[in-house]
Amino acid sequence: MCIRDRNNTVQYLSKTIDDFRNIFNPNKKKEFFNIKTLFAKTLSLISTQFSNRNINIIKEIKDVEINGLENELLQVIINVLNNSRDALELKNIKEKNIFINVYSKEDKLIINIKDNAGGIQEDVIEKVFDPYFTTKHQSQGTGIGLYMSEEIIEKHMNGQIKVENEIFKYNDIEYTGALFSIILPLK
Ligand SMILES: Nc1ncnc2c1ncn2[C@@H]1O[C@H](COP(=O)(O)OP(=O)(O)OP(=O)(O)O)[C@@H](O)[C@H]1O
Ligand SMILES: [Mg+2]
Repeated sequence: MCIRDRNNTVQYLSKTIDDFRNIFNPNKKKEFFNIKTLFAKTLSLISTQFSNRNINIIKEIKDVEINGLENELLQVIINVLNNSRDALELKNIKEKNIFINVYSKEDKLIINIKDNAGGIQEDVIEKVFDPYFTTKHQSQGTGIGLYMSEEIIEKHMNGQIKVENEIFKYNDIEYTGALFSIILPLK
């Protein structure tokens, strides 16, 4: 990590803490924003870190305008992407891929994020949104990421976040991975 990278991360982390603090501010105003622009912003924040780890991000993101809490949604996306990064590294996957697919369907925005890290063990998949549930070493995770993500999406944006394991083919190779879906109302 270069110094510039590190400074960005530090600034970003202190902002994250402020953002998490703000989440429980009931007066927080919703605003209109474009999901494609939000992903561009999000990916530029993490791109160096992910390319340094040889993680490919394969994305298809439609141009959709939504009304909601932009910074909070950014936190959720970063958390899901960081979880994929950790899983890909931990399992020592050779070709590390994360697939992002964003589109609207009827009156909903669908954000699908999946990886090829092997998925989540069936005996713990029900627990991943619980507060303090983590399979990571104490110094690497507190288990709060998906809990906060669920709070943001379900309590503050009237949406839904869920996970399942998926088996899929990419470039003729079969992979298994966790698929996180975030569904947000467009109206
Ligand atoms: N893409 C994934 N592949 C495999 N396991 C995952 C994936 N995403 C989440 N998990 C599992 O879900 C657990 C909970 O995730 P969560 O983001 O809530 O906490 P964490 O990443 O462990 O810690 P924190 O986010 O607080 O740093 C993880 O510890 C991991 O076991
Ligand atoms: Mg996490």
